[in-house]
Amino acid sequence: MSALLNLKNLNAFYGSAHILHDLSLHVNAGERVALIGRNGVGKTTVVNTVLGLASLQSGCVELKGKAYSKLRTYMAAQHGLAVVPQGRCIVANLSVEENLVLGAAVGRKGHWTVREIYKLFPILEERAHTPGTALSGGQQQMLAVGRALMANPELILLDEPTEGLAPVIVDQLAVIFNQVADQGTALLLIEQNMSLVVRVAQRYLAMSKGSVVAEGVVHNSKEGLHDLESHVMV
Ligand SMILES: Nc1ncnc2c1ncn2[C@@H]1O[C@H](COP(=O)(O)OP(=O)(O)OP(=O)(O)O)[C@@H](O)[C@H]1O
Ligand SMILES: [Mg+2]
Repeated sequence: MSALLNLKNLNAFYGSAHILHDLSLHVNAGERVALIGRNGVGKTTVVNTVLGLASLQSGCVELKGKAYSKLRTYMAAQHGLAVVPQGRCIVANLSVEENLVLGAAVGRKGHWTVREIYKLFPILEERAHTPGTALSGGQQQMLAVGRALMANPELILLDEPTEGLAPVIVDQLAVIFNQVADQGTALLLIEQNMSLVVRVAQRYLAMSKGSVVAEGVVHNSKEGLHDLESHVMV
């Protein structure tokens, strides 16, 4: 069985700035993988390369076994890959419900509908007709997750979904991410909060200077947490 996402020896640039150096990683169906690393190592650039927003100079991106060396943003969505972007990117002049419906634009049918998202996040139903950007940070993150689910993806890339959120919200999101993964959706969780990583991920990949430099199994224990933290310590 081929991986849902397989990145092979990527060298990616912003203009003349060489950011990803022979980066390889893969995520299989149903897997929960964490991508960790300090600020600026290139985690978001991995997402941007898959979306065709950074320039791929060599290497290839395989989406469900099909190799691409030129990516366009819509390709990921068509292959069942959804993104929860860093900073959430809620559309300011759309309501909560309109932001959710936007997530279904790719037209993939499945379990996730507006009704199912409201079961997962009841607060979004209460605020359905409020402008998306009028929500609190935690609620906006729920909206960004809900919008990604509306594409009925097989894999979700979550780019620092708990950045700046209160611990109580992080706890709620940990439960939700596990619920979503239990439904069979694979996760690539980009995170700096290792206490979340040990609760959600089965396997980790650690990045440094644009490459994956370590990987292993995630253990939900004090030792497992220390192991992960050693990869992100300054
Ligand atoms: N649009 C851009 N143009 C040029 N350089 C950029 C651009 N975006 C990011 N960079 C640079 O690329 C490098 C990797 O950035 P990236 O955003 O991928 O890191 P990150 O690991 O996601 O960091 P963080 O944890 O802070 O989100 C950094 O040195 C950053 O300054
Ligand atoms: Mg980033």
